[in-house]
Amino acid sequence: MRKHVMTPSPRADGEADLEVSRLCLGTMDFGTKTGRDEAFRILDRYAEAGGNLLDSANCYAFWAEGGTGTDSERLIGEWLADRGMAGRMQVATKVGADRARPEEPYSGRNREGLAAERVREQAEQSRDRLGVESIDLYYTHVDDRSTDQAETVEALGSLVADGTVKALAASNHTTWRFHRARAIAAERNLPAYRAIQLRYTYMYPRPSTVPVPEAIQLPATDELLDYAESENVAVFAYSPLSGGAFDREDRRPPPEPVDYDHPGSEARIAFVRKVAAELGATPGQVVLAWLMAHRAAVVPVIGVSSVAQLELALGALEIELDAETLARLNAA
Ligand SMILES: NC(=O)c1ccc[n+]([C@@H]2O[C@H](COP(=O)([O-])OP(=O)(O)OC[C@H]3O[C@@H](n4cnc5c(N)ncnc54)[C@H](OP(=O)(O)O)[C@@H]3O)[C@@H](O)[C@H]2O)c1
Repeated sequence: MRKHVMTPSPRADGEADLEVSRLCLGTMDFGTKTGRDEAFRILDRYAEAGGNLLDSANCYAFWAEGGTGTDSERLIGEWLADRGMAGRMQVATKVGADRARPEEPYSGRNREGLAAERVREQAEQSRDRLGVESIDLYYTHVDDRSTDQAETVEALGSLVADGTVKALAASNHTTWRFHRARAIAAERNLPAYRAIQLRYTYMYPRPSTVPVPEAIQLPATDELLDYAESENVAVFAYSPLSGGAFDREDRRPPPEPVDYDHPGSEARIAFVRKVAAELGATPGQVVLAWLMAHRAAVVPVIGVSSVAQLELALGALEIELDAETLARLNAA
């Protein structure tokens, strides 16, 4: 599988490049909705196909039936150990979106946040569950407006200095907050975020009614994509297949936490199906190919619950969308 080289920009002392495959494998449901055996088969096939980055978090998936929040990281740790892949398969994980008080309902006000102590403690626990010496890409999962950003930046920098984290990224941040954190890091010659992970698919979201600081998920915006392209920042696109809404009649565009359930989505789904039929591909494959064709370095974080779904996602790597098809998709 072809790779993107994620170069630190600016580069702080000791920071190295990170090479990531064009498709990142999401593992949010592994160990809960997707059982151990199928998850292992998916991981084996992804590695065999040349994929080199798994996406997890310290809270996957506490909301699932029987989920503890550590299921995904533990399953990855078991697989890395069983297959001798620790240090050979890269792992991204996240801090900041777990519950502060697990006994209370989850909300924007009940999150662990990004205080230095929490970040350092959680990185240690993630490394322990994963069984790795270092986390290849460490994300702040969601912004925390109640903690001074400089405190978080310093804490993340100390993890890179210790060698327990190789590269940094943020998820669910607005462009201005993401840029601000990068500027604070640059001023102090500390490692800066070099990637951002947002919800991004071939549909436009409805404007949100949730105040931004309380939102659990944020979608990619044109402004963010322009920033990413100009500043050499990689964009990890999560939930790219929208739960199967492009491929399956019985799946609707999701109304939450980002709202895609409106007539504009119907038009885009119909159009991507038409293009897929022309190309002899599946609609989901065209969506993934469209994301990967972006002028910015966009890496879809795929969610699959079977090897068959993974094979379809891998098929997207074979699709080259020509300029005319891209223009038609963009204009639809
Ligand atoms: N940073 C964040 O805040 C954040 C948030 C959400 C997710 N993520 C990351 O993104 C990853 C993917 O997220 P997601 O699971 O929400 O992704 P998604 O692309 O919205 O949905 C994946 C689901 O789509 C269905 N699907 C996949 N391939 C299909 C196909 N060929 N035909 C029909 N249906 C198909 C499957 O549903 P069934 O299993 O029901 O068949 C699969 O579980 C996660 O694992 C996680 O790593 C990050």
